[in-house]
Amino acid sequence: MPAHQHRHTRGEPGIPRCLDCGAGSVSNAIDSGALVNYLSSASGPLHGEIRVPGDKSVSHRAIMLASLAEGRSQISGFLEGEDTLATAAAFAAMGVRIETPSASERIVHGVGLHGLRAPSHTIDCGNAGTGMRLLTGLLAGQKFSSTLSGDASLSKRPMRRVIEPLSQMGACITSETGGLPPLQIDGGANLIGIDYRLPVASAQVKSAILLAGLYAQGETIVHEPHPTRDYTERMLAALGWPIEFSAGYARITGGHRLRAGAIRVPTDFSSAAFFLVAATLVPGSDLLLREVGMNPRRTGLLAALRLMGADIVEENPRELGGESVADLRVRSAPLHGIDVPIALVPDMIDEFPILFVAAAAAKGRSVIRGAAELRIKESDRIAVMAKGLRELGITIEETPDGAIIEGGILRGGAVDAIGDHRCAMSFAVAGLIASDVVQVRDCANVATSFPGFVNLANRCGFVLQLESA
Ligand code: S3P
Repeated sequence: MPAHQHRHTRGEPGIPRCLDCGAGSVSNAIDSGALVNYLSSASGPLHGEIRVPGDKSVSHRAIMLASLAEGRSQISGFLEGEDTLATAAAFAAMGVRIETPSASERIVHGVGLHGLRAPSHTIDCGNAGTGMRLLTGLLAGQKFSSTLSGDASLSKRPMRRVIEPLSQMGACITSETGGLPPLQIDGGANLIGIDYRLPVASAQVKSAILLAGLYAQGETIVHEPHPTRDYTERMLAALGWPIEFSAGYARITGGHRLRAGAIRVPTDFSSAAFFLVAATLVPGSDLLLREVGMNPRRTGLLAALRLMGADIVEENPRELGGESVADLRVRSAPLHGIDVPIALVPDMIDEFPILFVAAAAAKGRSVIRGAAELRIKESDRIAVMAKGLRELGITIEETPDGAIIEGGILRGGAVDAIGDHRCAMSFAVAGLIASDVVQVRDCANVATSFPGFVNLANRCGFVLQLESA
């Protein structure tokens, strides 16, 4: 299809993208200074029924594994966010034909395990740590060489955690000093399976090793210190690759084939999280979130919020495309501070920015520990949330692996999300209960995980708008 026939969008928050092939430099779009600020104000009760977009982790994996499968796979519920579009563009650049029948669907014409072609240019992963780390594992097994780059945030994120085990498997990967992107992955390596114990709980690292393991001789085994999301394992099994896995353990052997199939992406619990906390905090709210992905490795926030006193009911729990989903009904409730159980941390690793807001609005003290990984996410989330909430009048002490938050009254002010999508949406929620307007700066990257956030939020009663220049 010629470029001019593709559908382009300037959809919220205003980054031009091609919805059909994901063409265009993600990094350039994001780094070009397209500054988007939010203004969030006290709102009345939140009401209605909403459905949040598809899961980011599953959407990345769906594009990757469908591309390596033999034949035509149909993906439904796909997240059309900047991160996952970057992954789709990467596979298009390696010769995979991907059709877009609608925004949330993709038809992927898989080329088989050995059918990818060398990309003619550097692959731009945009803001996506998942995209880059999983691709590194997958590309380590190819006959051709490739280079992966990312935006300013991704360029500061540690890649040694994947380079190290992949090198043990025989991959040859060159990084910038300190194990930072861009990464150059040499083709033609003969990979050999390893038995690897992850030093930190990371689904990205586990998945990178398993994807390299598809191409490796012998067996590849991964042990995790705490179980993490198992979407890669489940999807490999669903597409017919022999795999053995249980909580904290996965084992595969190389040299099999992936069968194309239908892949249904559940909605993203991490996107639902902002609405769970918003409706809990705004008095009089009663909100229904339809068909929320409830993989137990993702729903730690639900347990934490319930310990704090939240009123969230799971209705109609069911299985959809091999994943658990439920409708979540949330009514406002007063929260009290807690010591967040360390065992919950891996199951809510992406939800700490919004948990900081819940804790800031709770009665009493909350203590977060064992969450040092937050410092190396899309931003240093401990520092960004602590600085912003202090700006809004909350007392917070940062610790190396968490924070101590004294609940209080939030006032208005200006806070900086520094381009971190989850911090931006969390501060938008804080504004709903602040005594004056909260200006949230640098929110453009909300489009990486939650396109249409402002519209959906407005629909259930958020007083949230884009700041006009
Ligand atoms: C992800 C794993 C987690 C999570 C990230 C998505 C994945 O990262 O924070 O948003 O899709 O595998 P880590 O593996 O670094 O914990």
